[in-house]
Amino acid sequence: MFSALLLLALAASARPSLLSDILTAFETAVDCASCHSVLLPPLQTAAHLGNDVFVSTLTTVCQTLKLAVDDVCAGEFHRSGPILAHSLRAFSVDGTTATKFCDAVFGLCQPPRVIPFTVPFPKAAPAIPKQFTSTGKAPFQVVHFSDVHIDRKYTVGADANCTKSICCRNFGDETGPATEPAGPFGNAHCDSPADLSQSMLRAIAGGELGFKAKFAVFTGDTVAGDTWLVDENEASRGLVDWNVDMLDGLTMTVYPSLGNDSVPVNSFPRNTTVTTLDPQWVFIIEKAGWKPWIGAAGADQVAHFSGSYAQVVPGTNLRILSINTQYWYKQNFWIYDSDTSIADPNGLLAFMVEQLQAAEDLGQRTWIIGHIPPGKADIVHDQSNSYDQIVQRYKNTIAAQFFGHSHKDEFEVAYSDYSNRTASNADSIVFIGPALTPTSGNPAFKLYDVDSDTYEILDAKTFITNISDPSFQTTPTWELYYSARESYGPLVGHLQAAEPLNAAFWHQLTEVFQANETAFQLYNTRISRGGAVSACTGYCKTMAICELRAARSEDNCDVSTPGIQLKKRATRGESRASDAPHEGRFGCNAGVSRLMTMFLAKRSA
Ligand SMILES: *[C@@H]1O[C@H](CO)[C@@H](O)[C@H](O)[C@H]1NC(C)=O
Ligand SMILES: *[C@@H]1O[C@H](CO)[C@@H](O)[C@H](O)[C@H]1NC(C)=O
Ligand SMILES: *[C@@H]1O[C@H](CO)[C@@H](O)[C@H](O)[C@H]1NC(C)=O
Ligand SMILES: *[C@@H]1O[C@H](CO)[C@@H](O)[C@H](O)[C@H]1NC(C)=O
Ligand SMILES: *[C@@H]1O[C@H](CO)[C@@H](O)[C@H](O)[C@H]1NC(C)=O
Ligand SMILES: *[C@@H]1O[C@H](CO)[C@@H](O)[C@H](O)[C@H]1NC(C)=O
Repeated sequence: MFSALLLLALAASARPSLLSDILTAFETAVDCASCHSVLLPPLQTAAHLGNDVFVSTLTTVCQTLKLAVDDVCAGEFHRSGPILAHSLRAFSVDGTTATKFCDAVFGLCQPPRVIPFTVPFPKAAPAIPKQFTSTGKAPFQVVHFSDVHIDRKYTVGADANCTKSICCRNFGDETGPATEPAGPFGNAHCDSPADLSQSMLRAIAGGELGFKAKFAVFTGDTVAGDTWLVDENEASRGLVDWNVDMLDGLTMTVYPSLGNDSVPVNSFPRNTTVTTLDPQWVFIIEKAGWKPWIGAAGADQVAHFSGSYAQVVPGTNLRILSINTQYWYKQNFWIYDSDTSIADPNGLLAFMVEQLQAAEDLGQRTWIIGHIPPGKADIVHDQSNSYDQIVQRYKNTIAAQFFGHSHKDEFEVAYSDYSNRTASNADSIVFIGPALTPTSGNPAFKLYDVDSDTYEILDAKTFITNISDPSFQTTPTWELYYSARESYGPLVGHLQAAEPLNAAFWHQLTEVFQANETAFQLYNTRISRGGAVSACTGYCKTMAICELRAARSEDNCDVSTPGIQLKKRATRGESRASDAPHEGRFGCNAGVSRLMTMFLAKRSA
């Protein structure tokens, strides 16, 4: 009792000097060494004084340094502060975990070297891999949509011009008439209104676009980007409502994967973490919501394997392996809560191996689907490296991979030898689905033509609705934007009729991009579906091509920099740097680390 009181008194009295220590540390930390020696110690001191002290101190820091408007500071640290504090209490200031933390949260360190880990496989790859041969049967179609970010509080007429990371809501601190009233179907400064998502579902199911898909793939991120406000109640309802919307709106099976859909954003503690903030509620919602599509067995896996499952598409020889990538995500602040490296958090790499081995044994092909693409800078290098070992071992079984998260229409190529990235070493292809949310370009989805024998991809077509079109706010129309086969096929060379758009094809396309500026600029426009185009030449182009040639994050050429997110919310009229091909490390992530890196960049500018 006495010591608790003493601690309280100490906490209270420590606060003013602690606050100034932290403010000074923010002003003086300039690199990785000073992150360890100057910035982390006072933050750890605050964390040891308890979550409440930590949250209130960091909220004051955020407000004093004007990292965001006051309510956003308060909301973000109220939500993510306890997780940061939990991890700050757990790692030693000079260890590898601390370096990872300094990279992820402040952009002050580069990611440390990959911690060697050899993924165990039950069997060696067969000496003679099974041949999957196309017989020229008619292909079938599959729809892929992603990052819907539906804002159930979107308010028609509310201001689309605001000081938060998403607008079009009646925020309490907004007074006066709207300078840019939100239209019924969406705005580039706001997440998707439900009517926009309904419009997309009708376009997919309605048949007017001339296709009838066999099934759909949804690669995650359901709820809106109000990361400083969202609570478990709102997020739960968002997940449930979207499952119902997809079930009612689409007449086909949907194979979903989990995005960052937890509260606080991205928070998925590993099973080695002792906490009351368990995201099991997310798995329970999805277990029930996805069951109509993936059956009772798939639904049980969702609950058992932290949101992951694998199911064979009925009537096919294709296994869908859906992986929850959040445990490999740098912005999941729970993963920094130990100095001991955990090679395979929650056993998801082992789950992948088990499923891929089963597919190989049965002569099946597999599609891997998930939220965060394995080569992105925001995937921890360690797990990305392990993931790549799995892809290399089962490359003959994996026909293609499908991810979302970046909001961009893009791709990643995997190689058997990353020191020698050639077409003949290219051996797996990651298709990245563009977002529905209009915050990063025109709302879009993809449609694949799939070889009925090999399950490889014959064409990837992108469909959009154009938010700048005068009819968009009354009757959004969806249209074919481009076909990769038609547009890129002739640039790459002679594609035979049954030849798929495989990893070698996409590698060759990156060679075309290198040599042909017009072709690269066409791709650069298509990233945002012509909706938020950023100039990209020279260094930017070199980096963009390197990123396309990396499905393993240690090879994507990314360099951590404080404040690469600085231009994230560009003001009206400017192109948005966040949509440049080399957008930077946090993808679409908002939240506390964005606030802190923004500050560090501003200070050094
Ligand atoms: C957006 O709002 C700000 C502040 O209220 C105002 O100064 C600015 O003119 C507005 N922009 C537009 C395009 O209406
Ligand atoms: C996931 O990240 C996006 C981008 O920052 C954000 O808009 C969204 O709110 C996040 N999801 C949740 C559940 O917070
Ligand atoms: C965490 O998951 C792994 C892999 O499934 C399992 O081996 C381990 O026992 C689990 N640990 C705890 C504490 O539940
Ligand atoms: C790179 O890989 C190709 C096969 O794609 C091979 O012919 C060549 O010798 C390799 N070069 C090096 C330097 O390893
Ligand atoms: C969208 O519509 C605007 C206005 O009509 C037009 O300028 C723009 O080119 C269109 N974008 C695309 C990708 O079709
Ligand atoms: C370069 O790409 C453009 C755009 O796709 C295409 O029209 C042109 O023919 C290409 N040039 C060459 C030399 O292949």
